[in-house]
Amino acid sequence: MRPLFIVVEGLDGSGGTTQSRLLQEWFNAQGLEIHLTCEPSHGPIGLLIQKSLSVSEESTHISDRVLPYLFAADRQAHLDNEINPALLSGKIVISDRYYHSSLAYQGLSIGLSRVATLNEQFQKPDITFILWLEPEISFQRIQRRGEPLDRFETLDRLRNIAEAYDDVYAYCKSRGETIHKVDAQLSIEEIHLVMRDHIEKLLESCPT
Ligand code: TMP
Repeated sequence: MRPLFIVVEGLDGSGGTTQSRLLQEWFNAQGLEIHLTCEPSHGPIGLLIQKSLSVSEESTHISDRVLPYLFAADRQAHLDNEINPALLSGKIVISDRYYHSSLAYQGLSIGLSRVATLNEQFQKPDITFILWLEPEISFQRIQRRGEPLDRFETLDRLRNIAEAYDDVYAYCKSRGETIHKVDAQLSIEEIHLVMRDHIEKLLESCPT
């Protein structure tokens, strides 16, 4: 099978990490090699971002107007150091978040078009899933985790981000991306099956 670049997106608590792992297991069971990764990445810029997002971490706080540039820098490093080498070696890459997160989250601070310009040169995924969740449910799930909240994890902010994902979906469609909204309130198994179905259809339509 050809290398494939898959992105899983959505509001915090929408289950992207779980679904990325399930896809990995599914591909592995077919004897295919997967590179499972995420953004912010685990490289030095990604780690700096993670630290700065934490609301309790004042020493590394980076303003919302600066973050879009850091996310883009992290993305370039992620592509150069992980994503492209993995694709070139024939692996399937699954990334839990990519530039769609910047378009949705950072679009709220500097505007979608500016974030789009910053990210337009980055390679498009072969297929992207937006796991679709009501912001109220996202907030309940985040609270249930009992972990410290990051700066995006307030109900008002989640409502804005959910709306922003609508614009991201329209923008990506308009530039010819293969992108699907999947109802994240379905069961974990149902969501997985819907995603598999889309991937199988994509592979049937362009197998090489
Ligand atoms: P995580 O909780 O999935 O690890 O992601 C960390 C947070 O970073 C999450 O709230 C979404 C946010 N984020 C952005 O704001 N812009 C981006 O470009 C990415 C990749 C993540």
